[in-house]
Amino acid sequence: MPQPIASPTTATEFRLAKSGIRIAPSLLAADFARLAEQAALVEAAGAEVLHLDVMDGHFVPNISFGVPVIESLRPQSKMFFDTHLMIEEPKRYAEAFVKAGSNHITFHVEAPEAKPDPMAVVDEIRRHGASVGVCINPTTPVAAIEPILEQINMVLVMSVWPGFGGQKFMAEVLRKVTELGQRLRADQRLEIDGGIDAATIADAASAGADTFVAGTAIFRKKDPVAAMCELHQLAVAAQGIA
Ligand code: DX5
Ligand code: ZN
Repeated sequence: MPQPIASPTTATEFRLAKSGIRIAPSLLAADFARLAEQAALVEAAGAEVLHLDVMDGHFVPNISFGVPVIESLRPQSKMFFDTHLMIEEPKRYAEAFVKAGSNHITFHVEAPEAKPDPMAVVDEIRRHGASVGVCINPTTPVAAIEPILEQINMVLVMSVWPGFGGQKFMAEVLRKVTELGQRLRADQRLEIDGGIDAATIADAASAGADTFVAGTAIFRKKDPVAAMCELHQLAVAAQGIA
């Protein structure tokens, strides 16, 4: 039975209802001169997960931020740090990103270092104490993660090509979300990343995603808190659970 969600009186009073649904604001779209402040804004409004996009300029054609930024944010926040490594060598850098304060690390199965032996990356991340996610690009089939599917805590389905915020949602990936939604255990999360906004989140939620990364649709809005709360409500309504 869906539980009622408190409707906001003002955006800042609103706290996200506890539910299976998580909105994970992506700092990639935030003002990099005020990262801690922007993180605090969504945390005060109830965000429990902060999505941290790490890009190396090789695996994706963009460079974002790395270990020192995560390390500096860690003492400023209690949120669950969901680090998305868009880098060629996730195994090599796993320890550094966990030590910097990541609670969770997602790596790409397409990463050159991960491709031959994804389980070795899973083991390395876990050995350092973080939970593990594996990410698939828009055209990578679910079959590519089959060998490690039961071993991981989360699957991340990219709904844009990784590298940049603000891109258009690729609805064709929803087939994979549906497939994974039916296959994953209750203790495994299904995250979707890229182009999630008020127009696309309901379809992603109906397909079975439970964790929604949103950058532009939160931090580029005049009222990021109201935008985040709206996304949360739309996802809960679409999934019909609370
Ligand atoms: C893209 C990143 C995303 C990005 C999403 O490579 O993985 O997390 O921040 O940005 P939006 O929500 O703007 O599509
Ligand atoms: Zn991401």
